[in-house]
Amino acid sequence: MADYRKYGLIRNPFPLHGSFPLDDKYEERYAKLLIGRDNLKELLRKKLENLRAGESSAVLLLLGDYGTGKTHCLKFMQHWAIRKYRNIIPLYFKGLPGPKMRDLLRTFLDSLEGILGRDYLMKLASESLNVERSGLVDTKNFLLALASKNRSKVIPALRWAKGYGLSDQMREKLGLVSDLDESVARDVLSTLLEIIWEVRGTKTLLLIDEVEELLKYDQEDLYDFYSGLRNLIDTVSTGMMMVLASTPSLLRDEEKGIAALNPALNSRISDENTIILSPLDSIGIRAMIISYLREFRIPSVKKLMSTYPFTEEAINLIADLSRGIPRNALMLASIALREALSKGKKQIDDAFIRTILELRKDELADFLLEFKGEGEERRDFKEKPVGPAPVDERTALKVKVIKILEELGGVSPRSRIQQRVKEISRKKFYRLLEEMRDEGMIDLIKVRGGYRVVLK
Ligand SMILES: Nc1ncnc2c1ncn2[C@@H]1O[C@H](COP(=O)(O)OP(=O)(O)OP(=O)(O)O)[C@@H](O)[C@H]1O
Ligand SMILES: [Mg+2]
Repeated sequence: MADYRKYGLIRNPFPLHGSFPLDDKYEERYAKLLIGRDNLKELLRKKLENLRAGESSAVLLLLGDYGTGKTHCLKFMQHWAIRKYRNIIPLYFKGLPGPKMRDLLRTFLDSLEGILGRDYLMKLASESLNVERSGLVDTKNFLLALASKNRSKVIPALRWAKGYGLSDQMREKLGLVSDLDESVARDVLSTLLEIIWEVRGTKTLLLIDEVEELLKYDQEDLYDFYSGLRNLIDTVSTGMMMVLASTPSLLRDEEKGIAALNPALNSRISDENTIILSPLDSIGIRAMIISYLREFRIPSVKKLMSTYPFTEEAINLIADLSRGIPRNALMLASIALREALSKGKKQIDDAFIRTILELRKDELADFLLEFKGEGEERRDFKEKPVGPAPVDERTALKVKVIKILEELGGVSPRSRIQQRVKEISRKKFYRLLEEMRDEGMIDLIKVRGGYRVVLK
């Protein structure tokens, strides 16, 4: 067991590999440490208040690139809702097993059972029998089976609803007309969400992470799934709030994105309900590192300098190198602290951070990949023939740059965009950006080691 007490810490506060520590014994403490996202917190607070007050269902979309904090934000919402709102049940799903309503229903049932128990479902179903509702026969009979509280009915009924299939005989016994298809699954899910609200007065907060994983499925499946989601949103008028976290490609992928395949769903996720997680600025990164250190300080040594064992210069360097991506900053801080401990160093300064970059090249490979390009020539890059690009090609390039920037949340290192604009040489690309700046489309901000491009 590494002994971080030398640094006045109960553990290495920075998750190795810089990912949110799901199911860690300190998960809640991490979830509280959401730094530099005050606007997001304010929006959430408003939405949760509205949700609790009985306002209609809502869908939020949380978009951000790799490591910008999507999972962290969902976990923040989950723990916040648990602490502050008795009548909101937050359910966190790490992705969906597939692009089907059936998958969503199964994940939902598993998670609800896991948290509140099967008894909760049975009671809910029996209380719901007093409420007059429309809906499919299968949904009604499923609820009846649950309400019977009789194991020989409850267990197969749940098996059916989770899409595991039943013998014809068993289905007939329960009065279920068909196996669970997509429209039945949607009906069951929306009915359950409504009942939880109408019977129990609790709203469900569905927090669905890594939705971009869906993009690996076929277009047709996705088309159906988006339609299913849209119908779900339209039919559940009051019972839920759904937060979908994803990389921006979910919206903007030209073949499989929501905007391309389902404009109707797209319009239900209006701009005001889309939150884009941009990189943090260097003050944000510094605040994040300090708050992680503070959270895991041994109480009796709290009088240490807040950055200890990091020097200010080391933190500035981490902030620069991370380019504002929390994951990058935490990963670097984590590895630096671990290496400092193993080498018996008292202090981590910027020189040591540089040594780590060299020493731990393999471990930091993904991280370092992001920083290629700026300053060094790419040998595989062939310049196109000289001469100015015709006007509309140039305009097309500008549009492309803007699209890329939008995808990246509005801010990006110049080098990162350049890697994706292969049509022109690097020099010409720089000139294009300057032109765009002069035309008021973007800002170019000088940072150490390069430029940051900001969409205006
Ligand atoms: N605003 C923040 N304050 C404190 N910690 C943060 C913040 N944003 C992100 N983190 C931390 O940075 C790391 C990366 O964030 P997270 O895992 O949430 O990113 P992500 O967007 O879900 O990435 P991926 O696309 O890979 O799923 C995690 O350790 C997380 O706890
Ligand atoms: Mg994540």
